[in-house]
Amino acid sequence: MALLVHNASRVVTPTGTAPARRNDLGELRILDGAVVRCEEGRIAFVGPPEEHDRLFPPPEERLDAGGGCVIPGFVDPHTHPVWAGSREDEFNRRLRGETYMDIARAGGGINSTVRATRGASFEELLEGTLARLDTFLLHGTTTLEAKSGYGLDLDTELRMLEVIAEAGRRHPLDLVPTCLAAHEVPPEHRDDPGAWVEELVRRIHPEIARRGLAEAVDVFCEEGVFDLEQTRHLLADAPLYGWRIHLHADELTPLGGAELAVELGALTADHLVHVTEEGIAALADSDTLAVLLPGTSFFLRSSYAPARRMVEAGCAVALATDFNPGSSPTESMPAILQLATLVMGLTVEEALTAATLNAAAAIGRAGELGTLEEGKRADLAVLREPTHHHLVYHYGVNPVRHVVKGGTVVVRDGTLDNLGARGRSGTSPA
Ligand code: NIG
Ligand code: FE
Repeated sequence: MALLVHNASRVVTPTGTAPARRNDLGELRILDGAVVRCEEGRIAFVGPPEEHDRLFPPPEERLDAGGGCVIPGFVDPHTHPVWAGSREDEFNRRLRGETYMDIARAGGGINSTVRATRGASFEELLEGTLARLDTFLLHGTTTLEAKSGYGLDLDTELRMLEVIAEAGRRHPLDLVPTCLAAHEVPPEHRDDPGAWVEELVRRIHPEIARRGLAEAVDVFCEEGVFDLEQTRHLLADAPLYGWRIHLHADELTPLGGAELAVELGALTADHLVHVTEEGIAALADSDTLAVLLPGTSFFLRSSYAPARRMVEAGCAVALATDFNPGSSPTESMPAILQLATLVMGLTVEEALTAATLNAAAAIGRAGELGTLEEGKRADLAVLREPTHHHLVYHYGVNPVRHVVKGGTVVVRDGTLDNLGARGRSGTSPA
């Protein structure tokens, strides 16, 4: 089955299979009037329509881009999409002056979502997650990293990871699962956090690894949560399990999380609002990507990671939503690009690469995702307007008109379409 995306104003994409740094971050390939041919889920051709017609037979299906700009589907490399309950009460308290940490210490924050999630069934969690995935897709995201971490006990962490696996089978979006059982110290261990760390290391991580439910592991390395020593201990067995490492690093305080991520050979260090100059230098000199989450700064009304300095120092910068009920309840990568440019000072070109190619690298998928080049997966978004600048310029609205996932049109004219065998109501394929 071949699909031809035609009548685009242009196709705009980063290139290559390695994360872009420094000046390369803003280097996009812009092909005016190009068509994109998708075949067997992959990109078979990107270029002038006449050349396409010379080289290929007519496609079975055509998608009219309506003069819009075609970009790679967004990859969102840091999300917490499985939970029950809601936190808008805490949001209101923060608007009145309480801080995120005040609320967490008083039993709210992550632990309030943990209480609701422990009480929710597999079906309830799955239903909520699938509805959120629809919203991601409608905003142009075609692959996301998905963390557990609102269970904080073996049963609920397993349930969350099984929800992620089932949601990935049912929904067109691809989900890459990460074990974040080390997201917080649960209330029952408040008096003895050391025992919780041992429980994670000896029982919970090995069991999740044994069941093959995660590709990566993450720790909330933060003052009052897990310190550097505990984080090292929590991640020591990651190579044994074949897990890539992500780290919530230097989010609320400058603890040295970036340096630790580099020391451990982590794939990413995330947040980095309070990264030190040493941390920036360490990241720049390493293969660890810096995943920046400006939605969290916006929503917590805090300062922002020093994105420009990091790019100029040579860090491989990626962008993500941090989608979660407490500190960043948005599925919209376009909203993140708006903050990354208008507040953090990246150019639109840099932000687009950070949200596609570099974001793919941040989940270990840069070989197959993140650019519109022959051989990569046919995941793309068609914007309503003719240039990629409209992603940011026309802010506060959804700029995405159509979405193609694995060569299938899954959003048409802003509406979910053709979810096929993997659709929400469909059964999982064998
Ligand atoms: O990435 N920092 C820790 N975890 C999330 C917040 C989760 C929550 O508040 O529920 C974050 O910001
Ligand atoms: Fe997070």
